[in-house]
Amino acid sequence: MTVTPEGLLAEARAVAENAYAPYSRFRVGAVVVDEGGNLYRGVNVENAAYPSGVCAEASAISAAVTAGARKLDTVAVACLDAREVDEAYPCGQCRQRLNEFGVERVVVAGPDGEARVHPFRELLPHGFKLGDRKG
Ligand code: THU
Repeated sequence: MTVTPEGLLAEARAVAENAYAPYSRFRVGAVVVDEGGNLYRGVNVENAAYPSGVCAEASAISAAVTAGARKLDTVAVACLDAREVDEAYPCGQCRQRLNEFGVERVVVAGPDGEARVHPFRELLPHGFKLGDRKG
C-alpha cells in the first residue's frame, strides 16, 4: 500500500464529513484503492424512501468503476458516529460488492480510532462469484 492504513482512514474520515445521513445520523466515508494505487472516495447518501439510500462503500466503488478501475486492492471505512466497534465494519451487502472487484484488505477504526487491517477473506469467506458462462 502506498498510502498507509492510518492515512487511508484519515482520508475516509475527512470525506465522511460530506455524508448525507439526515435519517440515521450515521455518517460514513469510504476510500477504495485500485491496483494502481489510485484513491476513490464515497459517502453514504440516504433518501426519504429509506431503501433508496446508498452505502459509502457502494458510492466509492461506483466512483472507481466509473473511472475505469476493475481490480480493487484496499477499502478503508470511517464511521464518524460509531459507538461500538462492529458499527465500523462494512455491511453484508457491501462485502459482496467489494468481493466483486477483488478487494484484498479492509481497514476500519478500532475502539481508540486506531487502524485495524483485516484480510478481506476474514470478513467474507467463500464470497459468491459467478463463473464465466460464455462459450
Ligand atoms: N452504511 C454505510 O454507508 N456502510 C455500511 O457498510 C453500513 C451502513 C450507512 C447506510 C445508512 O446510511 C447508515 O449507514 C445507517 O445504516
